[in-house]
Amino acid sequence: MSVSKKIRRVTTRSIHEMYTAGEKISCLTAYDYTMARLLDEAGVDILLVGDSLSNVIQGNETTLPVTLDEMIYHTKAVVRGVHRAMVITDLPFMSYQNTVEEAFRNAGNVMKTTGAGGVKLEGGEKCAEVIHKISIEGIPVMGHIGLLPQSIHQYGGYQPRGTTDEEAERILKDARAIQDAGAFSVVLEKIPAKLAKRITAELSIPTIGIGAGVHCSGQILVVFDMLGLTEDFNPRFVRRYANLAEEMRKAFTNYVSDVKTGAFPNEQESY
Ligand code: KIV
Repeated sequence: MSVSKKIRRVTTRSIHEMYTAGEKISCLTAYDYTMARLLDEAGVDILLVGDSLSNVIQGNETTLPVTLDEMIYHTKAVVRGVHRAMVITDLPFMSYQNTVEEAFRNAGNVMKTTGAGGVKLEGGEKCAEVIHKISIEGIPVMGHIGLLPQSIHQYGGYQPRGTTDEEAERILKDARAIQDAGAFSVVLEKIPAKLAKRITAELSIPTIGIGAGVHCSGQILVVFDMLGLTEDFNPRFVRRYANLAEEMRKAFTNYVSDVKTGAFPNEQESY
């Protein structure tokens, strides 16, 4: 039996067990109770309350506007829907960059008020001190390197990272720094599969890939992308497991038509 099938509640310990057994770790984002229930029932190991909610829930162009209070609000809803999965909350832009003390206070606030199992933050070597402080105080930290959506204005686009030797070496250095600082896992976003393979082979914590190829210890996607709800967003790393936008449009159109014609509600649907 796979390690994950035996797990009643996913923790950093069980993630490490899956990792050492060579079992891939499945992760998806979640932002609300109903979706979290379905994801949990399906056996997804980690639910990330990603700051991508700024894009897919709030309709912002970038992840920068979402606030810590909004992340906490959504995390509480997700946690209520989960029995088994580990819930990780993204620390949003400007909640951990200022001082180590502020970062720890904000991470602690997430843990104290939501029931999440840990936090994620973007950045490598420069975040080592913050990761060390948060994790040494008992809060599991997931790192995030490669493409960093919170720094999008610095790069000016969402192109893959680590495509030059120099940048690849820097990302590898970042991965080591995150591990040494105490992170229990690290997201590798949009980097060449070859580089992700090298990082995964070198680290002794799991790597979770998004657009980073098959050699990572696990995979993550934004749930709205894999469900086919974000039709205008088509990077090659997104596999559509459903076409819900089409399904939903059909359902809404049929509903409007039924209301207009009086076909809804019928006698059985009335009291
Ligand atoms: O915010 C998010 O959804 C993420 C994942 C894409 C890793 O950070």
